[in-house]
Amino acid sequence: MTTHNIAVIGGDGIGPEVTAEAVKVMRAAGVDFATTDFDLGGQRYLRDGEILSDETLDALRGFDCILLGAVGTPEVAPGVIERGLLLKMRFALDLYINQRPFAGTAPGGTEPHEFVVIRENTEGPYVGEGGVLRSGTPFEVATQGSVNTWMGVERCIRYAFELAAGRERKHLTLVHKTNVLTFAGGLWDRTFNEVAADYPQVTTAYNHVDAACIYFVTDPHRYDVVVTDNLFGDILTDLGGAVSGGIGLASSANLNPARTGPSMFEPVHGSAPDIVGTGKANPTAAILSAALMLDFLGEGDAADRIRAACAEPVTGSTTDVGDSIASRVGN
Ligand code: IPM
Ligand code: MN
Repeated sequence: MTTHNIAVIGGDGIGPEVTAEAVKVMRAAGVDFATTDFDLGGQRYLRDGEILSDETLDALRGFDCILLGAVGTPEVAPGVIERGLLLKMRFALDLYINQRPFAGTAPGGTEPHEFVVIRENTEGPYVGEGGVLRSGTPFEVATQGSVNTWMGVERCIRYAFELAAGRERKHLTLVHKTNVLTFAGGLWDRTFNEVAADYPQVTTAYNHVDAACIYFVTDPHRYDVVVTDNLFGDILTDLGGAVSGGIGLASSANLNPARTGPSMFEPVHGSAPDIVGTGKANPTAAILSAALMLDFLGEGDAADRIRAACAEPVTGSTTDVGDSIASRVGN
């Protein structure tokens, strides 16, 4: 048996509360792992100015995986911690796939759905191309570009086709806005069709992102695997959570499929500073993110047991929910 070395970044707000429950559940599932806590996030930044130094980043590279709670605190301007910590890890560790599975029944729906969104995680508007001129004046100019490379788009689309090819329905939908974003959309659409030729067993579809927002709510059953760009994927996956039992259940994997460094696993939700310390935070999304981590570490059996335990109804405080799930994952 291998001991997996896991870096834990609890982060801000409810982050440390939910990662503690995820660690508890992995222990209960009988997985052999060691954790090292990294005190990073908005609170750490306020204390001594560190967001994510090169030394810390190098230390993180030595781990098998990273489990992250949530980062961001109202005392720090928006973007500082998000860009300096979370996005810096996604870029520096080349976590080019953001995989977000959804299962549930949409509000008002009767039939459960199950699909996966593959969000490109290192390009698009997230790159931070652009700038501001004459800030704060009536002559202010702000530009924010979207970077799309053939390499980045191709590897993301290929990953999505591979995933779809291994699933029962073998169906992949590209979501973009090719009718307006013709430059980036052209690259995505062309590359999608090129890669599709390598996967004749996978059926394909295309939806504009605005239409996809309707279908996520009214007809989520049409989806098996969805592939999309970074910003569309960010927005669509909050909606995916909302139609699949709520954001408190939405898990995600930030993957470096080439395994040239650690991958990072985190709930889709944020740090929710308004409920910190109240016991109201649902740790299920963090626990399901830990299950995705276990899949990636080759511990699929423990991951399946955790997912089965999370599927049973649970109530109570953050620790109550963690305790009941932990009590059901017996190995
Ligand atoms: C997410 C989050 C992040 C994102 C933020 C915190 C930078 O919303 O993981 O979905 O936009 O990617
Ligand atoms: Mn988001």
